[in-house]
Amino acid sequence: EKGGYDYFMLKEIAEQPKAVADTLLGRIDAAGTLSLDEVRIPASVLREVDKVVIVACGTAYHAGMIAKYAIEHWTRIPCETELASEFRYRDPILDQRTLVIAISQSGETMDTLMALRHAREQGARVLAICNTNGSTIPRESDAVLYTHAGPEVAVASTKAFLTQLVACYLVALYLGQVRGTKWGDEIRSVVRELSAIATQVDEVLETMEPVRELARSLADKNTVLFLGRHVGYPVALEGALKLKELAYMHAEGFAAGELKHGPIALIERDLPVVVVVPSPRGRSVIHDKIVSNIQEIRARGARTIVIAERGDTAVRPYADHLIEIPPTPVLLQPLVATVPLQVFACELATARGNEVDQPRNLAKSVTVE
Ligand code: M6R
Repeated sequence: EKGGYDYFMLKEIAEQPKAVADTLLGRIDAAGTLSLDEVRIPASVLREVDKVVIVACGTAYHAGMIAKYAIEHWTRIPCETELASEFRYRDPILDQRTLVIAISQSGETMDTLMALRHAREQGARVLAICNTNGSTIPRESDAVLYTHAGPEVAVASTKAFLTQLVACYLVALYLGQVRGTKWGDEIRSVVRELSAIATQVDEVLETMEPVRELARSLADKNTVLFLGRHVGYPVALEGALKLKELAYMHAEGFAAGELKHGPIALIERDLPVVVVVPSPRGRSVIHDKIVSNIQEIRARGARTIVIAERGDTAVRPYADHLIEIPPTPVLLQPLVATVPLQVFACELATARGNEVDQPRNLAKSVTVE
């Protein structure tokens, strides 16, 4: 059942282009218009939404963090993303015009379920983004947008994450489409580019041998840091989570802009630091800022592992290891930038002799609060 792979995780990483394509299937028509009729929340209701709140745990929470950037940019609706386990305990402000999005691969995560029950009690409408047909979270939600990743067996979430991102982008773009924001042209062009993303994920997968080699060379390290900015920040957090889960290493993700507010004190000689670099096009200001961050940490002896868009020449002089990813629209970059981090963590776990599919102390679905 592992289809010739040593681990389910490897199989599931390899299945990502198909999972992404399947999640888009039937949701974009030939003219590049989105249709999410299956969600069954009428456009009239979506036009009235004045706040979006996303609740999720772990990797799904990272997808939700990225969704916030997309939703606010394309729809101009305020959006917050919150850990499901924290949500109901702070008495959040919710009403009929709040759209709550609960993201869950399994559909059985108790923290997420309790958060959505609380939201519905307050009158909010809940849309589930879920990978498991008929599971509890979609059953208890007002509407559901299924991800089509297929069954995910490895405890560490990979293909489910990419498809959660796709679903989040679809919701964000759809909200923008029905509300007709000033980003209409951008929305249409991103929808077109989303259709090409599966091929780009495939391209990334074909170039992973140097990443595996690098991972093996770091097997005796204790700590790896991850830096990112904008949508690259949740990607950094996701890279760190994968490494904790699988390699049992101390791994931490930071927003690159926070470096000088504390974390730079951690930098020492030979410390591996993975930096997710935003596209030099689009928000080029943050690109330049992150290039200075790379220079700063390298000047202090860090070993820089840089994930950057192909053709980004500005980062080259400061990258001890350069991992190139295909150019994508700025907000879609996590779909390609996360993949090398999954491969990196999986290979490090293997090199350290860990059980890849069943990491210690973890369960695939967390059905207790
Ligand atoms: O099934 P869910 O998406 O609700 O699960 C949420 C988290 O428990 C899950 O993403 C967890 O963080 C993964 N093991 C991460 O790889």
